[in-house]
Amino acid sequence: MKLTIGYIFMSILIFASSGFAAEKKMKIHILATGGTIAGAQMKAGEYGYKSGTFKVEDLIAAVPNMGDLATLSGEQVANIGSQDMSDEVWLKLAKRVNEVLKSDADGVVITHGTDTMEETAFFLNLVVKSDKPVVLVGSMRPATAISADGPGNLYNAVAVAASPGAKKRGVLVVMNDEIHQARAVEKMNTTNVETFHSPERGPEGYINTGKIAWFETSSKKHTSGSEFAGASPKSLPRVDIIYAHSNMSPDLIESAVKSGAKGIVVAGVGDGNMNQASLTILERLQKKNGLLVIRSTRLPTGLVLRNNEVDDDKAGFVASGEFNPAKSRVLAQLALTKTSDPKKVQEMFEKY
Ligand code: DGL
Repeated sequence: MKLTIGYIFMSILIFASSGFAAEKKMKIHILATGGTIAGAQMKAGEYGYKSGTFKVEDLIAAVPNMGDLATLSGEQVANIGSQDMSDEVWLKLAKRVNEVLKSDADGVVITHGTDTMEETAFFLNLVVKSDKPVVLVGSMRPATAISADGPGNLYNAVAVAASPGAKKRGVLVVMNDEIHQARAVEKMNTTNVETFHSPERGPEGYINTGKIAWFETSSKKHTSGSEFAGASPKSLPRVDIIYAHSNMSPDLIESAVKSGAKGIVVAGVGDGNMNQASLTILERLQKKNGLLVIRSTRLPTGLVLRNNEVDDDKAGFVASGEFNPAKSRVLAQLALTKTSDPKKVQEMFEKY
């Protein structure tokens, strides 16, 4: 009798380990926030449309065979155009992502408008406390459009989230058959489906109808390696972006600080530059009020490093490095939940 039980036990073990056992289907939870991917034209063929019209269930139902990739569940966190994304929705989304990834879900896909997708993605890249995949996806054409790009993007996003290769790569953006790292990706064209690029680093990989080719990932810290992982503050400090230009007035800087800004990011001309009047005001406010000042650039590519034409050491400024003004603002907001010390914040800009 014992021998028989032993044989049965052994054959189960051999069967399971031989890989014949059906592969466990990944569980992917889709969090919807709105955007064009959920958008609808008022009339077919019209240029105009309204973001955030369809619900997450509609988005899932509109993609044939996506259920073959993973066991899917959906949840509506918001239904807005991402130009209306707020700190409040960010904090709610981050809380849900961290809760879902603590459960038996294998990954999260977030449907989102493309206008501020890079900002939400980078914010989550710093506060998600997990190595499981988190993938943001959107579309440039509304769901009702001829050749809508949303269904194909969503299919690919689920395929990436369900892919073992996506683990430990930080938060990713999947759009137009490309996979991008949250920290590097930027929206670079107003209407083109090929709008997302990572101008300094290139894509994290390519994907076509669910087939993935991964590239090397960066060594920068993110998600579970971030000092902000799991952070869920009640609110985020206000940081404003000031766009530099010839003959710029420092009035906007002063009014931003009077309105409660604890940090200012300058989208500088050239290598993070601005006129002397603005430099003087910012240096005074940094010394007197402890204002956090980040020098970034309005240019699409290039790094802003310390002490080029501006003496950052003397002024107490931070140089944004690879980060554009929008990403610099995200990191500055989180940095300010810990410190306004420019030296410590500069270390953060180099670490993430
Ligand atoms: N309303 C814009 C947004 O939600 C449309 C852009 C898009 O989603 O592609 O970001």
